[in-house]
Formats: sequence, structure tokens, C-alpha cells
Amino acid sequence: MIIAIDGPAASGKGTLAKRIAEHWGLPCLDTGLLYRAVARDVVLLGFRIDDPWAALIAARSLHPAELLDPDLRTPQAGDAASIVARIPQVRTALLVYQRAFATQPGGAVLDGRDIGTVVCPDADAKIYVTARTEVRAKRRFLECQGRGEGVTIEGILADIRRRDERDASRGSAPMRPADDADLLDTSDLDIEAAFDAAVGLIKRKI
Ligand code: C5P
Repeated sequence: MIIAIDGPAASGKGTLAKRIAEHWGLPCLDTGLLYRAVARDVVLLGFRIDDPWAALIAARSLHPAELLDPDLRTPQAGDAASIVARIPQVRTALLVYQRAFATQPGGAVLDGRDIGTVVCPDADAKIYVTARTEVRAKRRFLECQGRGEGVTIEGILADIRRRDERDASRGSAPMRPADDADLLDTSDLDIEAAFDAAVGLIKRKI
């Protein structure tokens, strides 16, 4: 069973994906971490963030253990990720790892921007998670505050808007719901209600 969870930054898709994976006893891959790790490696190698060759080398040599780095969770890492994510060769290099994860015996849950459209177009269930921009910014703000990061709500809002625009307008695998995805707006739902709604949608498909 393959479950694809897509949606914009801070929509709650990551939390939902983890809960869904636990519920069905499936492994879960946060694919945003792959792009975040590539961006970090490009900078560590001393290249410009938009250098396609450095990004391709970083993507091809990415090791799963790198995804555990807590620094990958910051808004700056997310912003840098959306820059390398525009490079088609980087996306192709990361596709191999994502498809291998998705097709392991028993299935998997993957969350990202293009899981339902590109990575797993034949997924058994696809959910596109959305929430109003202000709601997403507030959630991300509280999350960053909890980690002791010095952020402002205005800064987070600007970051989310910039990233939405970049992710939705790129030529290669832009962020969008698959034609056969179910839409789930979590603006007015807490995590339990969002989880219940997602389970209901998935059960109708499997
Ligand atoms: O989901 P997260 O915010 O961690 O993703 C960081 C960035 O990585 C996104 O803004 C997007 O540019 C990129 N990404 C992507 N495709 C995915 C997952 C993430 O392009 N499947």
C-alpha cells in the first residue's frame, strides 16, 4: 500500500504522514528532507546554492543518515531546499531513492510536493493537504519558537509565500494536487480531527 501526502509548507502534511504511517504500520519518508540535505551539502562544499552541478553531485552522494540532522528543520534550510528543488537533474537523482522507498514490500507513506503527481503516480491513496497561509505561518512560528529559534511571524509568512510561489511555478514537477488526489483543508482542524479525516479518505480508496 502506497500513500502519497502532498501539500505546501507548514500545511501539517508531515505530522499527518507520520500519524498515518504509524496507524497502518508503514515506514514514512519526509521527502522535503532530501532537498534540504542537498541544499545544505552544496553550501558545505563551498558552492553557490543555485549551482546545478554541485547540487547534482550532492544529490547523487546523499546518504540517508544525513536526514537526521536537526538543522535541516529550520526555515532557512527549507528556503534553500526550494532553490535546489528547481533543478530537474536534482529531482531525477532523488527520484531513484524515493521510488525505492515507496516500493519496498508492504508499502510506505511519502510526503512532499510531487508524490502523487511524479514520484508515485499509481499510489493507492493520495491526499493534498492545504491550510490558509496565515494559519500555516502561525503553526510554523510556534514550532520554531518551541525549538528556541529567533523568528518573527512576518518573517515566516514571507518565507512561506516565497516558497509556495517558487514550488508552484517551477517547470519541473511543480507543487500541485494530482488529478485523483483528495483535498484536505486543515485550517480549522486540530491534528486529531485532521488525522480522522485523512484516515476516512484513505479508507475509501483502499
Ligand atoms: O516539505 P519541506 O518544507 O521540508 O520541503 C522543503 C522544500 O523541498 C520545498 O519547499 C520544495 O521546494 C522541496 N520539495 C520538493 N519536492 C518534494 C519535497 C520537497 O520540491 N517532494
